Amino acid sequence: MARIRIPSTIVILFVMVQTGFLLFMYARYSSFMPRSEEKPSQVHILILSSWRSGSSFVGQLFSQHPSVFYLMEPAWHVWVTMYQNSAKVLHMAVRDLVRSVFLCDMSVFDAYMPWKRNLSDLFQWAVSRALCSAPACDSFQRTDITSEMACKTLCGRYPFSKVEEACKTYSHVVIKEVRFFDLKVLYPLLTDPSLNLKIIHLVRDPRAVVKSREQSVKALARDNGIVLSTNGTKVEDSKYKVMQEICRSHVQIYETATLKPPNFLKDRYLMIRFEDLVRDPLSEISEMYKFADLSLTPVLKSWIYNITHGQGPGKKKEAFKITSRDAVSVSQAWRNVLSFQKIKKIQEVCRGAINMLGYQLVDSEKEQRDLSLDLVLPRRQNQFSWSSFNPKH
Ligand SMILES: *[C@@H]1O[C@H](CO)[C@@H](O)[C@H](O)[C@H]1NC(C)=O
Ligand SMILES: *[C@@H]1O[C@H](CO)[C@@H](O)[C@H](O)[C@H]1NC(C)=O
Ligand SMILES: *[C@@H]1O[C@H](CO)[C@@H](O)[C@H](O)[C@H]1NC(C)=O
Repeated sequence: MARIRIPSTIVILFVMVQTGFLLFMYARYSSFMPRSEEKPSQVHILILSSWRSGSSFVGQLFSQHPSVFYLMEPAWHVWVTMYQNSAKVLHMAVRDLVRSVFLCDMSVFDAYMPWKRNLSDLFQWAVSRALCSAPACDSFQRTDITSEMACKTLCGRYPFSKVEEACKTYSHVVIKEVRFFDLKVLYPLLTDPSLNLKIIHLVRDPRAVVKSREQSVKALARDNGIVLSTNGTKVEDSKYKVMQEICRSHVQIYETATLKPPNFLKDRYLMIRFEDLVRDPLSEISEMYKFADLSLTPVLKSWIYNITHGQGPGKKKEAFKITSRDAVSVSQAWRNVLSFQKIKKIQEVCRGAINMLGYQLVDSEKEQRDLSLDLVLPRRQNQFSWSSFNPKH
């Protein structure tokens, strides 16, 4: 029988190394154990809006921030895949997808995308600065202000796995969605201990929204069908049935969040009107950043100044065509462009939303065209006195 003699110093050394390894593994493992009192390390922001309400612009304000991982309308994939269903039926799948994205779990896209895929298969990927810079793409720095065009040319062929890798390196995950019509659907996310969710509810005067929707009738037709539950048939919104549904949802969301809100909504809901943002961008942006626990960097300040004053590289060619001189007049354009007949119809289906969100109804074509008559009530005033608020008509 052969005996192998092992010197005792080697045995001791071996035991020490093994003990060290076990201790190391234990420390690693225990640091992964969830502790109930521990807060999630990331902040999750949902920009909740509807089509043509300035949400791409607000999305950019977050996307360009170096601490933010941003995705624009990831639930587009849900709607496109299951277009024969109604918005109500799809609510839960949309919520599930949003939750996974907040947690940087991109496997949720397996259900909606081809198995072999690149970064560029993700809807509107190139508007996300995080997907145009390291570690997702080597062409830009995280602190750069990126443009959709330049990013598209340089970053589209990176593998899809970069989305998840990039997401995990940020302190803030921000998602813009237009596919929620009910705040209560989001309650499970607000109470989920693995999330730290805050909601920015962005609204816009429904009459301005209609004017803008008229410029993209074809692009909205499939989504309209889903909102109206037409089993996959594309529809125009000639009778403002979709608008009615959108207005109803804004009232529902705003009422649910402000009249008798549940405790878990405290400090987690902020309503922003597009018109206020356009009139006083810096103060509204500061408020949104403060709400989101983000600080304004010098580069961002300069960029915001530029885009709100029509300066800097790119100028009006950028995705969010907004300069403050333009934007204020653009936000009033519906008053010259739409007929009074149409305005009356929109005011009928959206009366509740117009009143509640602090806009004035018009009674005549004369009032409609008279731009000296401001139809946007001051923000503080309308926030202060919802219940006693009496529209002039
Ligand atoms: C992904 O990028 C590769 C490399 O450039 C390209 O050959 C391939 O066609 C792309 N795949 C898809 C699904 O776009
Ligand atoms: C919806 O459309 C599909 C295919 O076009 C059809 O098979 C189905 O019967 C329709 N469902 C309803 C409820 O109309
Ligand atoms: C803002 O515009 C100025 C002047 O065109 C330009 O020098 C500067 O780089 C721009 N800032 C940003 C952050 O784009």
